[in-house]
Amino acid sequence: MAERADAFVFFGASGDLAYKQIFPSLQRLVIDGELDVPVIGVASTDWTLEQFVDRARSSIEEHGTLDEAAFRTLASKLSYVSGDYADPATFTTLRDRLGQATRPLHYLAIPPSMFGIVAEGLAASGCNDGARIVVEKPFGRDAESSTELNDLLHRFFSEDRIYRIDHYLGKDPVQNIVYTRFANPILEPVWNRSFIASIQITMAESFGVEDRARFYDDVGTIRDVVQNHLLAVVANLCMEPPSSDEADAVRDARAMLLKAVRPLTASDVVRGQYVGYRDLDGVAPGSTTETFAAIRLFIDTWRWAGVPIYIRSGKELPETVTEIFVRFHRPPANIFGEMVPRNSSHLRIRISPDIQIAMGMRMKQPGDRMIGDDVELRLSEQPALVLPPYARLLGDALEGKTELFTREDLVAAQWHVVGGILDDVSPVYPYRSGTWGPEEAMAMIGDHGPWVDPRPAHRTEP
Ligand code: BG6
Repeated sequence: MAERADAFVFFGASGDLAYKQIFPSLQRLVIDGELDVPVIGVASTDWTLEQFVDRARSSIEEHGTLDEAAFRTLASKLSYVSGDYADPATFTTLRDRLGQATRPLHYLAIPPSMFGIVAEGLAASGCNDGARIVVEKPFGRDAESSTELNDLLHRFFSEDRIYRIDHYLGKDPVQNIVYTRFANPILEPVWNRSFIASIQITMAESFGVEDRARFYDDVGTIRDVVQNHLLAVVANLCMEPPSSDEADAVRDARAMLLKAVRPLTASDVVRGQYVGYRDLDGVAPGSTTETFAAIRLFIDTWRWAGVPIYIRSGKELPETVTEIFVRFHRPPANIFGEMVPRNSSHLRIRISPDIQIAMGMRMKQPGDRMIGDDVELRLSEQPALVLPPYARLLGDALEGKTELFTREDLVAAQWHVVGGILDDVSPVYPYRSGTWGPEEAMAMIGDHGPWVDPRPAHRTEP
């Protein structure tokens, strides 16, 4: 494993990501005793150090919980470099500010269009010596642009020094999928096509894209969350057991799975757009960008052959929730005076807003008749007091732990899966806010449906 970083530098220090995620995560790392290095913010905004510290304070007040003692410690480590990323003087100042540090961690919380200029500035000033770099999604727009981006970063940083963030991998319940699968051997014999009929993954958000409309219109649901977050969930759910807990053993297992996902084609996707989206400021007139996607995918391995995995995600849906529903086969013969419902036997993994793992079973009703009810055994329900994903990922990057960062071949495999469904390969159907997307998405799931409503009170019983 790499040595601990001895400085943390973040570009885009006056931006949105820093405000919403980075400052609160840094305070959390202080509280956990994991931040013992200088923290240098870089941005073009003309601020004094005092203004920068004020910004950090209001960020934590708004997006975290201010802890006065921890904040004082954090503030004592902060410094600020104001300058244009195109100006070499910005990087000379940064190099001076780094002082004796020989293993800085540079976090690019900036748009990808600026990665090149910052990486070049770091290299020209010697700030890349011994350094690691963290980059945010989106990692390209397709396979080709992601390769170009890799080539660019590789000019200045070797692959083992590039940490690509997918914050879903930093979520505790997403890690818990891996833990639960491989810490409980009872699951392994049934975790395959012989016992599993289908899998559904719903990532729903009840809000729209208002303040991000300009960014989002260029991206859409498939690039925004399917290519990265949801394929990362599929990998954790379906990969083979890693051969060890080495970071690359786990990443190899994820990569092997993603490479076996059959590339998607237009008939595997239903795209939707909520009514009113086109009226938003920043959205192109007549935009065909999807704000909803429902996808059917297959994994061409012995374990998963023929098991459809249905994924749906969208904005302006009825609820904000992410949930996985693994449906086991129905009994092969009907020996009771009832047809056991299709969804009775299942494993349900809820990732957010609350964290649960539940096993659905059919249990006999008391009395002389052989009829039953669907019940769930809740295997795990934890309050959401877990480490927030950004705190976990920044802590790992500082320590040089790579397991939860997306390696070059994983990114390539993910683009390979979605390459055939990007942009206008299929129509975009309108849907009303507060619904589960267009009717066409209901139809696509066919005999494997219906889509399971993640709101307990609305669960349907086919
Ligand atoms: C981001 C997407 O990567 O993930 C957003 O750009 C989305 O559109 C967000 O809302 C969801 O993350 P979380 O952690 O709130 O589920």
